[in-house]
Amino acid sequence: MIQLHDKHFVPFIKAKEIDSAIAKMAQEIAEDIDEEVPLFVGVLNGAFMVVSDFMKHYPKNCEVSFVKMASYEGMTSTDDVKELIGINQDLLGRTVVVIEDIVDTGNTLVALKSMFEAQNVKDLKIATLFFKPEAYRQNIKIDYIGIEIPNKFIVGYGLDYDGLGRNIPEIYQLKD
Ligand code: IMP
Ligand code: MG
Repeated sequence: MIQLHDKHFVPFIKAKEIDSAIAKMAQEIAEDIDEEVPLFVGVLNGAFMVVSDFMKHYPKNCEVSFVKMASYEGMTSTDDVKELIGINQDLLGRTVVVIEDIVDTGNTLVALKSMFEAQNVKDLKIATLFFKPEAYRQNIKIDYIGIEIPNKFIVGYGLDYDGLGRNIPEIYQLKD
């Protein structure tokens, strides 16, 4: 068991399982995108670790960039999604794959989608390592999902609780 600030967390998903889920997503995406050179866009801060491992599993030419969004305060998602860092490159006609660490309510996805559509991309796909189906409140299609999890707060592998826990290589779940 680990403690971050005032909360305790217990082991939930092992590093090996995370890695296989990412490898599988990378394979699927590589099969779906044939001739194009996709631009993978990681959503900071949480997705830095998944993007790094994802890239190592992606077998074809690709580019990478990052945006920074913030909506979470402590353990609750808010409707107010702020764009802290945007994309400063021409996306006209590009195939863009957004890479998220986790999709919870989907509020962040709504903001991301309108941001990329405004830039006239050719194709926009969404990939997320973790997905909480019970918390999802949007109807945007998520094209690639690594692992579905119950609606419980998790930390590790890039995910934080008020700044802490991102460096933990495995996923921990809030203790009841
Ligand atoms: P959404 O906008 O509610 O879908 O939330 C998306 C963002 O909230 C994610 O990209 C994470 O940064 C953060 N988040 C959602 N669920 C969790 C969690 O269980 N642990 C840590 N961060 C989370
Ligand atoms: Mg995030």
